[in-house]
Amino acid sequence: MIDGRRKTGRALRWGMIGGGQGSQIGYIHRSAALRDRYFDLQAGALDLNPERGRSFAAELGIAHDRAYADYGALLAGEAARPDGVEVVTIATPNNTHYPITRAALQAGLHVICEKPLTFTSAEAEELRNIAQLRGLIVGVTYGYGFYQTIEQARALVASGALGKVRLVNMTFAHGFHSAPVEDLNPAIRWRVDPTFAGPSYVLGDLATHPLYLSQVICPDLKIRRLLCARQSFVASRAPLEDNAMVLMDYGCGAFGTLWTSAVNAGAMHSQKLRIVGEQASLEWWDEFPNQLRLEVQGQPAQVLERGMPYLHPEALADDRIGGGHPEGLFESWATMYERIACAIEAAQQGDHARLAGIRYPDVSAGIAGVRWVEHCVRSADKGGVWIDYR
Ligand code: NAI
Repeated sequence: MIDGRRKTGRALRWGMIGGGQGSQIGYIHRSAALRDRYFDLQAGALDLNPERGRSFAAELGIAHDRAYADYGALLAGEAARPDGVEVVTIATPNNTHYPITRAALQAGLHVICEKPLTFTSAEAEELRNIAQLRGLIVGVTYGYGFYQTIEQARALVASGALGKVRLVNMTFAHGFHSAPVEDLNPAIRWRVDPTFAGPSYVLGDLATHPLYLSQVICPDLKIRRLLCARQSFVASRAPLEDNAMVLMDYGCGAFGTLWTSAVNAGAMHSQKLRIVGEQASLEWWDEFPNQLRLEVQGQPAQVLERGMPYLHPEALADDRIGGGHPEGLFESWATMYERIACAIEAAQQGDHARLAGIRYPDVSAGIAGVRWVEHCVRSADKGGVWIDYR
């Protein structure tokens, strides 16, 4: 149960890079990190526009001399202080994740970075090597992975309740960009420009979320090869896709499919997973995250509710308010941030056993997402052919 008691000795001195006023994702980072006092926001380079960044920093309670014009100034300024930040969150557009994460790690800071971690897996592996060498944590914010219903799904699969898993069916297909809305919105424009977004749009922006969930729920399934087709229904977005379909062969008789889209007109999120086993199936939908559907062949379907005592202990561990009251994305993110704080404390104390026991989206999860996108793009750009997974 999460009720405000600390799982770490103290709050971490924390800085934010990006996530400025009006950004899509900055607020949820702050809300998650500050919720249970695991982080204390002390410094920021919040905005591409330094003045706007400084004024917003003041509103957030950051001291004037720790509101920096850019990330280079933040890293230098904080390194010069005895009480400088220990960890930074990077919530900027994709093209900056690699250079900022690299610089922060080289400055000796733990990093919490937005996805996709980098444009290429070689860059992501380089970041892992730097982090490993220096004993630093890199968390990658796959923030849907900490719903209690996801823990329940993971526990059910591990217990064999479904039998052998045969199929994993994933979607993350919204309709918000069915028209060229980027013409009027700079926060969407960078997402469809390869200079800022990287080699993909929806594959990297959306699809890696359910991919991460599938890896959490079915950790034994490893992709052996995949086939991807991608399309740009709004033609000006080419070469980046606004829709893609991926077929994955797990090499053990199990297959996965993933449909991702920003042009699924009329849909809100439609982030769904269906795990089909020999005897039973599970279904989860992020628009109703307090429920998990369990369908046993030949029996009436059950809807498992968050917070109820019949759930596995792993699914109850992060409960905040008991069954009945809905929890949501903010709680999932807060749990993720809490776990990353615990991981950072374990790393600081050299407690490898504790670190190994904490499930959070670490640098390997970041690499896995980047590598998957690389394979999808390679397959699609060869005309939709099977690509062996490396
Ligand atoms: P946005 O365009 O709405 O905001 C970006 C913010 O970063 C702005 O405040 C901008 O001024 C600031 N910024 C840009 N370059 C900067 C730099 N060099 N130094 C300091 N600040 C800088 O973008 P949005 O939607 O918030 O996305 C940011 C990142 O978060 C992206 O990588 C995106 O993929 C990711 N994201 C992740 C989500 C998740 O569920 N994990 C959901 C939405 C976005």
